[in-house]
Amino acid sequence: MAGARPLSFARPRFTRLMSELTDSPAWRALQAQAARLRVRRIAELFADDAQRATRFAAQGAGLYLDYSKQRLDAAAFAGLLELARQQDLGGWIARMFAGERINATEDRAALHVALRAPRTARIAVDGRDVMPAVHAELDRVCSFAEQVRDGRVRGLGEAPFTDVLSLGIGGSDAGPRLVCDALAHQADGPRVHFVANVDPAPLGRLLRNLDPARTLVVVISKTFTTQETMTNARAARAWLVARLGEAAVARHCAAVSTHLAEVRRFGIGEERIFGFWDWVGGRYSLWSAVGLPIALALGAARFRELLAGAHAMDEHFRCAPFSDNLPAILGLLGVWNNNFLGLASQVVIPYAQNLERLLPWLQQLEMESNGKRVNRDGHAVDYATTPALWGDVGTNAQHAFFQMLHQGPAVHALDFILPLAPSDPALAAQHRLLVAHGLAQSAALMRGKSEEEVRAELRSRGIEGAALEAALPHRVFPGDRPSNTLLLPRLDAFHLGALLRSEEHTSELQSVIWNLNAFDQWGVELGKQLAGKVLEALEGRGTPPDPSTANLIERVRDAQAR
Ligand code: F6P
Repeated sequence: MAGARPLSFARPRFTRLMSELTDSPAWRALQAQAARLRVRRIAELFADDAQRATRFAAQGAGLYLDYSKQRLDAAAFAGLLELARQQDLGGWIARMFAGERINATEDRAALHVALRAPRTARIAVDGRDVMPAVHAELDRVCSFAEQVRDGRVRGLGEAPFTDVLSLGIGGSDAGPRLVCDALAHQADGPRVHFVANVDPAPLGRLLRNLDPARTLVVVISKTFTTQETMTNARAARAWLVARLGEAAVARHCAAVSTHLAEVRRFGIGEERIFGFWDWVGGRYSLWSAVGLPIALALGAARFRELLAGAHAMDEHFRCAPFSDNLPAILGLLGVWNNNFLGLASQVVIPYAQNLERLLPWLQQLEMESNGKRVNRDGHAVDYATTPALWGDVGTNAQHAFFQMLHQGPAVHALDFILPLAPSDPALAAQHRLLVAHGLAQSAALMRGKSEEEVRAELRSRGIEGAALEAALPHRVFPGDRPSNTLLLPRLDAFHLGALLRSEEHTSELQSVIWNLNAFDQWGVELGKQLAGKVLEALEGRGTPPDPSTANLIERVRDAQAR
């Protein structure tokens, strides 16, 4: 490339060929366990242990985890517990719950546990108890939501609010959106519409159909500077002002943020501003005032139930021994499948349509937290960190990518999530069918279908000889595809809170094992910076960052000029 000048990058620090972790006794012992178990069929492990189905199970905060279909035995499990001990999991949990500044790169605590703790708890950051402020803000959120719901808080023309437009992105959207969707069958407040994308399509559609006189706009942004959210917020503000006048901003808008000065500049009235703290990471924020849309749609009581479920899971995680600790076991199994068995990815399949939004929330949680290549000290890791996490709801997913999960050459780790009670009791029989499918898939993935079974089946259908031999390989299922099954008694606020909090603890645990800081996200910054430069170039004011982008910008400019 003519004129190209060599770029210099700060490389992650390498101090030794192997990291302390991969050279550690617990890690090496687990490698040996994996080598031993890799050649065994999971079905044989059941034959070895008549109690396996109930022995490899855990319960916490009303949730039940069956992990007997993992390629794991008692010795390997003991090895995982030893790894947790070696990495000082107990110490890290204590430091997190004590409000220490464990988010070192941003010099902050990661104290979202305080958001669900009871009023009587005392949790300090820098020696100051944060609980009075946490509960004062929660009370404000709940009181405002109830007043909107019962019509005491109304719009400019005294019409009650029938619709809420929630504007936020990432952690300021995914959690509340997931909860409102998951508990849609219990929603009894104003309709809540979420817009995250700066793509004008979703916002435009809503602004065309909503009645501004009956719409409350809630802007959620920790920083109150995120480009997508602020662009949508300005468009919604202009829509309100154009139809109702400037006074609408104070009466029809509310905001949730840590940057209160920015919110005031936007024109939102003091009593409509709800705060939280820099020690609440965006992806852990649904338990804070960020949950305002939840309280609006479902009521304050259900929002508090959600927090109670999360707190119950916090207590389980903090107090249960790791051998019986549901999120800790889930996290350790993730490490086992990822780092020791080398499975290709992590697939999550909720058998509940209402949990459709679990995946995007989980993706941010796991991949923004642990998608890192350097450890806490800035040293390059020599082990896999978070796997790609993906999935979809069952049974839909069975008709999409399950073919690959059953018969593709790569093995993926699966989590099945099944609520046991129907969300719609009038169609209970349909729910039984849904559960049957979920259980059948995990069984099929584990047991597979052998050549002998396929042969017998084909023969019973009169297929013999060359036709049988040709058909055979296509119909064999290798099996031995491990999965967890997580049961929820029902999809209600308490158990949803417990489920989501369990997932958060799982990712926190994995960050401890992998020695990562789970609470920063520097990896999202470069794209944001370049987007500014690209926009300037698109508007003819700046230089594109590289020839490929320059060519694409030209094509965009041509198309827009036509
Ligand atoms: O994607 C990066 C990120 O900073 C997330 O961590 C965060 O949840 C999201 O953007 C939104 O940020 P904010 O709440 O400040 O608008």
